Amino acid sequence: AAQSLEEIGKTIEKCTKCNLAKGRTKSVPGEGNHNPSLLVVGEGPGRDEDRTGRPFVGQAGNYFETWMKAIKLSREGDFFITNIVKCRPPENRDPLNEEIEACLPYLERQIELLQPRVILCLGRVAAYSLLGLSESLTLLRGKKHNYHGIPVVITYHPAAVLRNLTLRAPVWEDLKKVTRLLSEG
Ligand code: URA
Ligand code: SF4
Repeated sequence: AAQSLEEIGKTIEKCTKCNLAKGRTKSVPGEGNHNPSLLVVGEGPGRDEDRTGRPFVGQAGNYFETWMKAIKLSREGDFFITNIVKCRPPENRDPLNEEIEACLPYLERQIELLQPRVILCLGRVAAYSLLGLSESLTLLRGKKHNYHGIPVVITYHPAAVLRNLTLRAPVWEDLKKVTRLLSEG
């Protein structure tokens, strides 16, 4: 039978479908509002996430929270946040295709249950994996995308923006796009 959000979380905690299971401390199913207007999708857990079992709680996560504060959205009240792969890749390397393929059904089921009005993809791995695209982020940002009819906004990963602050301006444009799409609902 199809699983609930809580059941998916429990399944992910014990999952051994790919090699990332071996290196993880805790898997990171995702958290936030269960009837969200927005779903945020990152790449995969980092060190702090692996240790706590919670998404986006390290440096990039704290920085990302300032973006959400700027558009007045919170995990409790408005959005759910998760990743393409639910277990940390060693040394934070990009997840491999086989790992993405093994893990993606969890995200697909989460989206079915959450039914967000808008999806925000953070970075190349999130956008490529969810939408099956492979153009450069710069090209993808300028186009309209949807996942089964749900509008998808693609922006840079907060860790990339921390390394290159010139990306702040385009990120702000993308966040305004999110706000606009949410207000159209
Ligand atoms: N970066 C991600 O992509 N996901 C996290 O959960 C934390 C950092
Ligand atoms: Fe399972 Fe996903 Fe973790 Fe791989 S990354 S072990 S598929 S939960």
